[in-house]
Amino acid sequence: MSAAKREYKRITTKTLVDMKSKGEKISMLTAYDYTMAKIVDSAGVDVILVGDSASNVMAGHETTLPITLDQMIYHASSVVRGITRSLVVVDLPFGTYQSDPKEALRSAIRIMKESGAHAVKMEGGHEIKESIRRIINAGIPVMGHLGLTPQSIYKFGTYTVRAKEDQEADKLKKDALLLEKIGCFSIVIEKVPATLTTEVAKSLQIPIIGIGAGNGADGQVLVTHDMLGMNHEFNPRFLRRYLDLSAEMTDAFQKYIQDVKSGDFPSDEEQY
Ligand code: KIV
Repeated sequence: MSAAKREYKRITTKTLVDMKSKGEKISMLTAYDYTMAKIVDSAGVDVILVGDSASNVMAGHETTLPITLDQMIYHASSVVRGITRSLVVVDLPFGTYQSDPKEALRSAIRIMKESGAHAVKMEGGHEIKESIRRIINAGIPVMGHLGLTPQSIYKFGTYTVRAKEDQEADKLKKDALLLEKIGCFSIVIEKVPATLTTEVAKSLQIPIIGIGAGNGADGQVLVTHDMLGMNHEFNPRFLRRYLDLSAEMTDAFQKYIQDVKSGDFPSDEEQY
């Protein structure tokens, strides 16, 4: 067991802020189901994100937009049943918080009550500040998400690096300060220049979790299926693959098929 795992029995939003103040980096990965969450949690990951990337990874949609609140609650409750230590953060899906703060609060309450998760994540800054405020006032911790926000992909028109120009970088810095001021416990910053992330992380007390945002963040997040190499089509520069699971799984499936066809499986020891 790692030293960090021994030190923190259960990760809370406060643990993350304490980790930042001690200069200890935060690890975050996605999970959408019980079995994966159990493995990720027991490996010692600090935060499990039930991302709306489930829309792509689990359901095969092109974007994160189609996933519903009911589907997110199903994924989140499966994840919560698999964990003992990690903090579980759940994405509020597209269309459940942008129109008005009361609807945003209702959506967040459903996630917390019906899944047992510990916090929600929301994409955007100034535009959704009233919704964030209302949710936090109800006692629900909120993680922000700035930079490339996939729920706005049709506004951006592309998944390329955000905030390269001063105007967008300035807005991101202001939004990050605002999110801290209204009480977010952490912010994900996605796909922006590393220098910008470093500047934001240094200017805030709350932890910045980066994805494609450089090494100056207080922690990193990756989509688990991507870092395990289960998806060969997605090859962004920021992705480090720790396994080639797609190849290993294909190999295992092909061996099984061969064993069934040849009559080698089951053997005498594998039957009653
Ligand atoms: O939905 C997701 O998986 C995310 C991460 C990429 C940060 O928002």
